[in-house]
Amino acid sequence: MFIKHATIERNTILLSVLTLLTVAIGGLVEIVPLFTIETTIERVQGMRPYSPLELAGRNIYIREGCYLCHSQQIRPLRDEVERYGHYSLAAESMYDHPFQWGSKRTGPDLARVGGKYSNEWHAAHMADPRAVVPQSIMPGYAFLAERSLDTRNVAGDLKALRVVGVPYSDEMVANAKADLVAQGDPNADTDGIAARYPKAALGDFDGDPTRLTEMDALIAYLQMLGRLVEFDRTQPGGLRQ
Ligand code: HEC
Repeated sequence: MFIKHATIERNTILLSVLTLLTVAIGGLVEIVPLFTIETTIERVQGMRPYSPLELAGRNIYIREGCYLCHSQQIRPLRDEVERYGHYSLAAESMYDHPFQWGSKRTGPDLARVGGKYSNEWHAAHMADPRAVVPQSIMPGYAFLAERSLDTRNVAGDLKALRVVGVPYSDEMVANAKADLVAQGDPNADTDGIAARYPKAALGDFDGDPTRLTEMDALIAYLQMLGRLVEFDRTQPGGLRQ
């Protein structure tokens, strides 16, 4: 066998062809399974696409670079699960384009921050983090409460996400703008949005019910993070089916 190997080593072309072949086989073995990734994400109950207001908030989260300091990915390690809650499931970010797993935690993980604090806490914290957490090094985002939310492209956002596979129905697209406004208005008729987007937090978020601001959208987004899937610690695996 080693004698044959010497032949290969002395013949550059043969060596190149065989190297290429070996690398190609290795590559295929690694890459081909990824084409079936769609079927490797376990479907879980409760996942739904973002409501238009949550989506607008998510866009602001991305625009402001919150992901540079915050991850949204709880790893299945004991200390993380004890601090943040059930580890993140692949399905929980299946409608995220792009996903917000992040790569750095200057601040805490936000994958399950929804419901942890009141809207008032978030509004105060976003405006001036040191007002509620004296040792915080997070920058303030008070200007978000001054800026009216740009609602012009909301239906377009939903349609664009539909192209990449998020199951927004025609009804959701048609009602996008109305749903966005209704979610942030404490006096609105919310039957439609509650049916289309179960568990969406409704009402005023930034403390000023008279107008819809970027702060409203961002807090609506933060308040739904990690709340769609029901976890039950008494079940093996912790997932309620
Ligand atoms: C420079 C890094 C940095 C940036 C950028 C940043 N944060 Fe933070 N964030 C932190 C730190 C540090 C904390 C922990 C101290 C605190 O609560 O203020 C924190 C805490 C939080 C908390 C409370 C989490 C908890 O479980 O107590 C939320 C919510 C939050 N940030 C949201 C945001 C949002 C939304 C943005 C973008 C608009 C953002 N952060 C941008 C560093 C950052």
